[in-house]
Amino acid sequence: MATTTRILLFGAAGRMGEAIMRLAGAEGRAHIAAAIVRSGSPSAGLACAFAPGSSYLQALPTDVVGDVVLDVTGANGFDDALAAACARGIGFVSGSTGLSTTQLAALDAASRRIPVLLAANFSLGIAVLTRLVAQAARSLPDWDVEIVEAHHRLKRDAPSGTALLLGDAVGQGRQAALPVAGPARCGPRGKGELGYAVIRAGDIVGEHSVWLAGDGERIELAHRATSRDVFARGALVAAAWIAGRTPGRYAMDDVLDV
Ligand SMILES: NC(=O)c1ccc[n+]([C@@H]2O[C@H](COP(=O)([O-])OP(=O)(O)OC[C@H]3O[C@@H](n4cnc5c(N)ncnc54)[C@H](OP(=O)(O)O)[C@@H]3O)[C@@H](O)[C@H]2O)c1
Repeated sequence: MATTTRILLFGAAGRMGEAIMRLAGAEGRAHIAAAIVRSGSPSAGLACAFAPGSSYLQALPTDVVGDVVLDVTGANGFDDALAAACARGIGFVSGSTGLSTTQLAALDAASRRIPVLLAANFSLGIAVLTRLVAQAARSLPDWDVEIVEAHHRLKRDAPSGTALLLGDAVGQGRQAALPVAGPARCGPRGKGELGYAVIRAGDIVGEHSVWLAGDGERIELAHRATSRDVFARGALVAAAWIAGRTPGRYAMDDVLDV
């Protein structure tokens, strides 16, 4: 395995892709071996702003060597990125959200042959928050739980993948699948419900808070990302971590324990 992780980056011209390329160059822990954009993208063939000497490619050249595929395309490009990792038999890290059940099933199938890590949120702070939420939900089984999330005006999916991840942590803590309410809701709260509330405004990078409310008291566990760099840095940590692992399904929680 190379000491510097060689990354095949899908979604290189997007917001996350650019942040990953910039940080990889600045911190020197990873090398972007290929910067892949959507076929027909206006960026195809242009010089990469953060990787001098390389340009955006519409397809992955067979002669480019990589240790891991890193996917930040969203649901539209996920299939191409996963297919590239499977074809090469290398690790796959994806931050894409809004995936269909078919795409999630394909990821599970791939995990029998290659190591895969799906993270709706690459922030190490969110990984810790997820653990705290599971613990709080377990300790307070009768309290109402609401998850509030806010993102920038261009975000495509709602509730965010991170909000759903935190909802899963509540379910794991309670060892039960809770009935889901929201984002739109009217009428009184149902017993044992898990509620989601969504805000889309301005350039908000990502804010999540989990409310646990009892009678006369409330806990709020919150995380606020003020820079996309926290996700990009976590993505690079995850990519370095998964290179050379045995096949299986991994999460940021596994990365935390190293
Ligand atoms: N895990 C995390 O920490 C984290 C953090 C932030 C965002 N996200 C998620 O990451 C995804 C991307 O977010 P973003 O804000 O960077 O979105 P974005 O700016 O829209 O970037 C996505 C990029 O992927 C490109 N693309 C689409 N299909 C492709 C394909 N087949 N091959 C290569 N590139 C392809 C898009 O090209 P076109 O625009 O030309 O279609 C676009 O440039 C979303 O699902 C978002 O929710 C995850």
